[in-house]
Amino acid sequence: MSSSLNLLSSSGLSPREEKPGGSPGAAAPLISFRGIHKAFGAKVVLQGVDLDVYAGETLVVLGRSGSGKTVLTSMLVGLNVPDQGSITVGGKEITKLKSDKDWRKLRLDTGYLFQGSALYDSMTVGENVAFPMVQHTNWSEEDMARRVHEKLSQVGLAETEGLEPSELSGGMLRRAALARSLALDPHLIIYDEPTAGLDPITCDEIGRLIRHMQKTLKVTSIVVSHDLRLTELVADRCTLIYRGDMVFLGTFEEFVQSTHPEVRRFLHKDQEENPA
Ligand SMILES: Nc1ncnc2c1ncn2[C@@H]1O[C@H](COP(=O)(O)OP(=O)(O)O)[C@@H](O)[C@H]1O
Ligand SMILES: [Mg+2]
Repeated sequence: MSSSLNLLSSSGLSPREEKPGGSPGAAAPLISFRGIHKAFGAKVVLQGVDLDVYAGETLVVLGRSGSGKTVLTSMLVGLNVPDQGSITVGGKEITKLKSDKDWRKLRLDTGYLFQGSALYDSMTVGENVAFPMVQHTNWSEEDMARRVHEKLSQVGLAETEGLEPSELSGGMLRRAALARSLALDPHLIIYDEPTAGLDPITCDEIGRLIRHMQKTLKVTSIVVSHDLRLTELVADRCTLIYRGDMVFLGTFEEFVQSTHPEVRRFLHKDQEENPA
């Protein structure tokens, strides 16, 4: 376990104490968005989003390109700030966090796999994974080496430490970027379009890996995607954002049964793009 963390683990809602797949039961949510509004100039992106995420669950945020998925989820690490509304993480209001120190704690406990996350070309795979440890901890070389090996093993990339990023396939690069996001043992992982640009077999591989992370590390995961196949593989629940609001929230089975017109359009569009 990493050092003195933090909002997520000090909440009493550590995913490690929740049942796997933490479905919305009696437990309080780990993360709550309430009345989130966000506009860029005249462009209104989010208009009153309410969303709860429960400890240990994998929630997929679906929506067309430009619907505000990244804007919403990146608020959890302070990359975007709502114009109105409240976000609590482990019961603490994060829209009021002021100091870099407060943000730092939360960011260190959140693995954020950016859309198109890239490794640094000038470093080996192992050095890439060690990078957050070098930056944020005073662990010994030995400890770091052990943890680099552990993180790479967790994503099925043992024995790749010494390789250059250019020697890895697209799927392996995505795995290595995930290993780097896991470097400091986050309790929350945000995956932004983790399968974009990958072939279907590699997409499935990434989906299985997301599941594996949830099961073995008991992390809470938010997956931003428009990939229905991935959603089916990983989602405990999914939500659809449309015109700045959530128009669906439920299981994938409920999603495919939903009669909401935008859900129907979203499902239909996917079938057109990816015929069986
Ligand atoms: N920093 C920004 N400045 C202006 N517009 C932005 C900014 N960030 C996002 N947007 C706009 O907000 C909308 C939602 O963006 P985003 O959340 O990235 O969509 P997506 O659902 O594809 O992740 C888009 O129209 C995008 O152009
Ligand atoms: Mg996006």
